[in-house]
Amino acid sequence: MKTIAVYHNKGGVGKTTLTVNLAASFSRKGYRVLLIDLDSQANSTYAAGLIKFQDELQDDIKENYVYHVIRERNSHFIPSVAKTSKFTEPSFDVVPSHIDLMQHEKELIEIAPARTRLFSKLQKIENDYDVVFIDTPPSLNIYSQIALIAANYLLIPSDLKPFANEGLRNVQNFISETNEFREQMGQNELQVLGIVPSKIATAHRFVQFVLPKMEQTVKERYGFPVLKSRIFDRRDVSAAIERTSEVGELDIPDPQSIFDYKANSQAAAEFEALTLEVKQLVGI
Ligand SMILES: Nc1ncnc2c1ncn2[C@@H]1O[C@H](COP(=O)(O)OP(=O)(O)OP(=O)(O)O)[C@@H](O)[C@H]1O
Ligand SMILES: [Mg+2]
Repeated sequence: MKTIAVYHNKGGVGKTTLTVNLAASFSRKGYRVLLIDLDSQANSTYAAGLIKFQDELQDDIKENYVYHVIRERNSHFIPSVAKTSKFTEPSFDVVPSHIDLMQHEKELIEIAPARTRLFSKLQKIENDYDVVFIDTPPSLNIYSQIALIAANYLLIPSDLKPFANEGLRNVQNFISETNEFREQMGQNELQVLGIVPSKIATAHRFVQFVLPKMEQTVKERYGFPVLKSRIFDRRDVSAAIERTSEVGELDIPDPQSIFDYKANSQAAAEFEALTLEVKQLVGI
């Protein structure tokens, strides 16, 4: 089982979009996929189509989500928390998040073993999945730390803009701190697969002249590899996730993967290329 965290300290760079579409892509290739949402914004839980209720009184996630996986030692193992996502076919499993996760940060910081519970619970299901993706919040908090402890690999989506680049210093320090923690646990260092250029402008001259320089700069300045695949800023990508369908009088969220939304689009081809590159990098 290959566990891949998707993390950047900078918000809005496309982490969630990348995570859910990669999960869909691997699932469509026949891999057994689990997606874990560790962000209290619960955006990948939403994108994977798990928020079906219209009224918070029908909220069926609050009592059984990623918080419980982290909080409880002897219960809430992954099979009893994971839900099936119909985001694509074949479906994949999702350990959902919830907006209340934010409220539990202080409590979890006090519980030292909470940091490694996701790691331990993943070990129990290592024969059940081929690949696990972990979506993270854009912060240096306990949840992103839990993700970097549980994962074997890291993907860093970035729009390569100045603030995102400056955030890479924090990412570097965070990885180094986490590695110290991993060492104490007897675990290997986190393997950084690299930066994925994400939400990149499509203007021809930009792509030809400016983008390669930006990629070179982050490589040299921050020492992270940069993947060959690039995810461009394309309307189809956001439209697929923002998709709704009419049920009676209501427009209900009905997000789709880019492959289901527009299989022949450039965006789908870009995600396919990224999938193949990630597959090769992790050796599955
Ligand atoms: N390749 C893309 N092309 C067009 N729009 C995109 C692309 N990737 C992401 N977006 C849009 O950009 C916004 C932010 O994307 P996303 O939620 O994936 O970022 P994030 O890094 O997960 O954000 P956060 O840090 O808040 O978790 C969303 O509205 C999404 O639809
Ligand atoms: Mg996100």
